[in-house]
Amino acid sequence: MAEQEKLVIAHSAAQLKAAARSWREAGQRLALVPTMGALHGAHMALIERAQGLAERTMVSIFVNPKQFGPGEDFEKYPRPQEQDLRLLRQAAVDLVFMPSIEQMFPPDFASDLKAGPLAEPLCGRHRPGHFDGVVTLVAELFRQTEPDLAVFGEKDFQQLQIIRRLVESENSPIEIVAAPLVRDPDGLAVSSRNAYLSDKQRRQALNLSGTLSMLSARAAEGQPLRELERVGMAALGKAGLEVEYLEFRREHDLELAENLLRPLRLFAAARVGPTRLIDNMPVPTA
Ligand code: PAF
Repeated sequence: MAEQEKLVIAHSAAQLKAAARSWREAGQRLALVPTMGALHGAHMALIERAQGLAERTMVSIFVNPKQFGPGEDFEKYPRPQEQDLRLLRQAAVDLVFMPSIEQMFPPDFASDLKAGPLAEPLCGRHRPGHFDGVVTLVAELFRQTEPDLAVFGEKDFQQLQIIRRLVESENSPIEIVAAPLVRDPDGLAVSSRNAYLSDKQRRQALNLSGTLSMLSARAAEGQPLRELERVGMAALGKAGLEVEYLEFRREHDLELAENLLRPLRLFAAARVGPTRLIDNMPVPTA
């Protein structure tokens, strides 16, 4: 058996390019999985998807200050570096890109982007500037890593659509691949922020996926969408969650769904204590 190749750790675009050159010269496809670290099962599913589509997989770990608003958890965001590197080695990832803030955004950085109309509803309404920060970082990551394809999870469905639009508007050849949302066996959507939940809060948080799955099934049966949204808001409020939004929207343009023309998705964000959770579910075809 061939010896397992080593995980290349690149802190700069120059180091990354040097490592990637021989792969490109050998005609190998390069996939990028952008992350903020604190890797868990859902990230590993993105990595597996990338590995199935490209000969080489690069993972970026960067907690992007531009996508955190004032008072959000940028400082507190978990950064378990050794554990992340161990997981990447176990998964036989080829390269990890761990740039510093100065490497991504030097003091003369002047390429801040706007995420556009897809960023207006849902999380964009509640986290002003968040998606501008995401697209600015992702465009810069794409520029520095030049992948053939990049994998994003459907857990952040609005982010996925915004990045698809970014790539289209820039006429970029990078293929954007969507990977399905991953749930724990109890139904909770896997997220790095779940680590903030106490046992009691976790039990409370389960109401989110439970309510979404009940509502999307009822929507598929033809019950009125606005009525279902009201029922869901009330049920989650009663369970002690502070709901930011719970809305049926069309997948392609994220406009509010006025009828049952699929593909439709139910999107929700809610706070359990101080922890903000998001989830979404497609409305099945009846
Ligand atoms: O989804 C995430 O983890 C982040 O928003 C991303 C895409 C890595 C950009 O920082």
